[in-house]
Amino acid sequence: MQPHVGIIGAGLIGRFHARGVHGLTKLGLVDARYVAVCDRELERAESFARIADLDLATADPEELIASPSVNTIYVCTPTAEHKELVLRAAAAGKHVFCEKPLARTLADAQEMYNAVQSAGVRHQVGLIMHHSPVLTVLKELITDPTLGRLMTIVFRDDQAFPIQGHYASDWRGDVAIAGGGTLIEHSIHDLDLLTWFAGDVESLQAQTRNYAGHEGVEDLASVMLSFASGATAQLTSVWHDIKERASGRLLEVFFERGYFAVDQDFFGSISYETNDTQGPTTISDQEVRQRYFDIAGLDKDVFDQALGKYSLEDYFFLQALAEDRDPHPGFDVALGAHKLVDAAYRSAAEDGRRIDLS
Ligand SMILES: NC(=O)c1ccc[n+]([C@@H]2O[C@H](COP(=O)([O-])OP(=O)(O)OC[C@H]3O[C@@H](n4cnc5c(N)ncnc54)[C@H](O)[C@@H]3O)[C@@H](O)[C@H]2O)c1
Repeated sequence: MQPHVGIIGAGLIGRFHARGVHGLTKLGLVDARYVAVCDRELERAESFARIADLDLATADPEELIASPSVNTIYVCTPTAEHKELVLRAAAAGKHVFCEKPLARTLADAQEMYNAVQSAGVRHQVGLIMHHSPVLTVLKELITDPTLGRLMTIVFRDDQAFPIQGHYASDWRGDVAIAGGGTLIEHSIHDLDLLTWFAGDVESLQAQTRNYAGHEGVEDLASVMLSFASGATAQLTSVWHDIKERASGRLLEVFFERGYFAVDQDFFGSISYETNDTQGPTTISDQEVRQRYFDIAGLDKDVFDQALGKYSLEDYFFLQALAEDRDPHPGFDVALGAHKLVDAAYRSAAEDGRRIDLS
């Protein structure tokens, strides 16, 4: 099928996807059309429509969902709005890309997964890390059996409380819209990534704190995970008030005979040390890009220049639809991450009680 895309939510992330979808179709990198946009604030929708010369700009999501010229819908609204829009899109038989987190609660995320499954529509979630070049290359490096067993992962994720700077809206400070704080809104990426790297989680323990004082919106979360393999991980997720500090992730992975570290979550270099390297070694950003494009089967000359961060996930979503395949990561992957987020909140509510997930 040829995807005909409508985007609901013309805010920060909607703009990234709009750029991605528009750029990919204009360059002929995917066989798709970008046709419609919706935002509660009509002038935002209209500004998107002017840039890409779209057929439809509306303030009414129902009009976009019902439009016969749209068969694929991006849900890019704040989290509390996702469920209703996804259920309506699925009921109308439209394929769906929904931003993470799927919903404020595990029960709602489950309902959304059930809806897309029973409607038989294809689905992808904005767990962008799955299409991160540096993490894809790292994931491949750590499959080397000579490294021995995975022992532990140390993961620090920090950013300024995201109601300022390039976050032009303040809903992340409102638990009724966001569902929680740094754990669900930001570190759902990290918990998902940890299972991608280390497999099934057997149990976890979590503590949360609230420094900034937004009720129900934690700005510090410490999570300790035990994996079925025997490995462990420690995740520290912080929303601080250091206004100029760039958002960052530092990931250190220890095997019996190998150490790997990345301090960028998308492009960037990889440091590592094994018994063969005789000291610390670095794979440069350029080399990482080349390896990534080889693994992904993409032409580096075309994609390195043409694509920004979010358009890789748009490319893989639209390409899968165009080829009548299921895209990745789907809502099933999101549901797995929501189960971990939910368990972490349950543990934190009981002062770090161990939650069994096996
Ligand atoms: N994958 C990522 O790394 C990533 C990054 C940023 C945001 N997100 C997620 O994307 C979603 C949106 O975040 P954002 O930062 O773009 O928010 P935002 O506030 O910048 O934009 C949201 C837009 O949606 C519009 N809107 C709200 N309810 C609507 C409705 N019912 N119908 C139509 N329009 C509606 C608002 O007017 C606004 O323009 C959130 O779930 C967030 O967690 C994901």
